[in-house]
Formats: sequence, C-alpha cells, structure tokens
Amino acid sequence: MATPSIDKHALDSFHAHLSQSKRVLALLGAGLSASSGLPTFRGAGGLWRSHDSISLATPEAFAADPSLVWHFYNYRRHMALQAQPNPAHYALAELARKLPGFQCLSQNVDGLSQRAEHPPDQLQLLHGTLFELKCASRRCDYHETNFTDPVVPALAIPTGGVDPTSNEARREAAAAQDKGQDLDISDVKVPIPSISTKDLPQCPKCNAHLLRPGVVWFGESLPASVLKNVDDFIDADAGIDLIIVIGTSAKVYPAAGYIDEAREKGARVCVVNMDTNDAPASGWAEGDWLFQGDAATVVPELLKPVIGEIKAKV
Ligand SMILES: *[C@@H]1O[C@H](CO)[C@@H](O)[C@H](O)[C@H]1NC(C)=O
Ligand SMILES: [Zn+2]
Repeated sequence: MATPSIDKHALDSFHAHLSQSKRVLALLGAGLSASSGLPTFRGAGGLWRSHDSISLATPEAFAADPSLVWHFYNYRRHMALQAQPNPAHYALAELARKLPGFQCLSQNVDGLSQRAEHPPDQLQLLHGTLFELKCASRRCDYHETNFTDPVVPALAIPTGGVDPTSNEARREAAAAQDKGQDLDISDVKVPIPSISTKDLPQCPKCNAHLLRPGVVWFGESLPASVLKNVDDFIDADAGIDLIIVIGTSAKVYPAAGYIDEAREKGARVCVVNMDTNDAPASGWAEGDWLFQGDAATVVPELLKPVIGEIKAKV
C-alpha cells in the first residue's frame, strides 16, 4: 500500500478510532524530545552517532575511566535539565490519566516525560534514565532517583573553555548539525579534567563501589522488570486497539518488532515522525496512519478527543 495520506480525513478517522480504543500502546523515541531542544540519537548529528559518545556508553569505558564517563553523563543530565517537557509530553501524560489501558514504552533517558508528570506505572523506561543512579557493582542492588546538577560538586561543568550550555556552544553545535556533522563531546571544546575516584558519586549502601548512571549501556540487556511489564501488557487477552509510534524509526528494532506484535493483537498502527519515508519494516497495512511533523504539534492534536486542549506549562 502507498504511504497513507496526511489530511483532515486521516485525522478524523484516527480520532474516531482513538475514541473507541481501550488498550493503547505508544512507543516513544528521541524525536519526541527534539522540539524540547535535545539532540536526537539517530538523526544527522545525533549525539550518539559520534564514535566518542558510543565508546563512552559501555561498562568497560566506565571501568577504565569513570571520571571521563561521569563527565559525559553529567553533561547530558545538565542539558536534559535545561530542556523543558513539550506539549507532546504533557499530552501523553494526560492520556495516561484518562485511559488506564494506555502504556508508553520510552527509549528516552532524558527525564522529560517524568517531569511532565506522566504516571510512573504507565511509563516503561526501556533504556533507563539519566536521573537514576545505581551501584556499579552487579552484586549490590542500590539505586536512587537523583536530579542534582552537577551530580557531585567535582563534576561542575568546567569553566575556562567554552561552556557547553552557552549560546556560543549551542550555535556551534547547531551549525555542525546543519552541515550534517556529528556533535560529540569533543565539539564542546572544554578541557575535561580528570577527577579522583573519591570525588565521584559513591554507593552509600556497600560503601565499596561508585554509583553509575542508571541507563542501559551498549552490551547490556534491557531491564528485566520493564520487559516483563511490556510483555504482560502485550500478551493480555484483551488485545490491543492501537499502537502509536512517536519520534522513533518504525523501520528498525525495537519499534518494528512491537508494531508486528501489536498488529497480531489486533492493533491499528499510527506513526508520527518528521520523515515521510518511515514505513514500518513489514510495510503499511490498510487502515494505518502516518502523520508527518513535529511531535510537539501533532501529538496534542491527535489526542484531543480524549484529553481536550493541552497547554504547555511555562
Ligand atoms: C545525588 O547524588 C550525589 C552523588 O552520590 C549525592 O551527593 C547527592 O546528595 C544526591 N542528591 C540527592 C538529592 O539524593
Ligand atoms: Zn553498592
């Protein structure tokens, strides 16, 4: 089937289906947070595209140089805290309150859905969050929610170089992205001081190991409890009425897999993305929707029949 058309007719038919839906799944990706000012992972210039940032996101890198890895994550926490949830985050949180059979699976670690007060039991964080700290030892189960910035005083963003949060640094990063270049930690041109292990976040439970960011690193498995919640939701006898894929490629894992599973459970598929070529891996089916545009604009419009008008908090 050809790409579904994006028009008033499509919006009306989506609204009609949503209004009758009892069990709805949403899959959230970096594009949801793009208009909050956070760089996307996979788009041109995404933070994670650069070799440096990928090589920092491993347990081996943390073991080898915890100071460098903590600098990187402290910087990402700082950037995420500078950003604000956008109307799409608020709209999804409101849908969760209105519709108990709504589950969001988020790949985002930026904490914006949580700050939009998304009900926690309707938000499955597939990749963890920057705002959870956990013991670096697998034998210790300590973890905490922590929004302190900088996470420890020694990790304060260095002065002397270009402050990565300054307008100048942001302009440079935006210019690099426009040219399709990678934005990586070396682009911020800040000398990264090495700090001693004793000044990094310490586990208060075992008193023997560092705390690390509560995100899923390359080579690690997704959190078992989260995957169980997701499987339980998908496998329930009641079936699924609708899956909405927002700001993440419908073509690739994990979206592609969840789309197929949801379809088998009876779901119709709705994709919200900037990219009109973003067909699901198994192709479009009769009755699918594709809405192209910024999630912050499109999502509140899509959910309006259930949630009413959403006003972003300022
Ligand atoms: C956050 O973590 C740091 C490092 O372990 C700690 O010093 C700080 O007290 C924590 N903040 C909160 C609010 O728990
Ligand atoms: Zn510990």
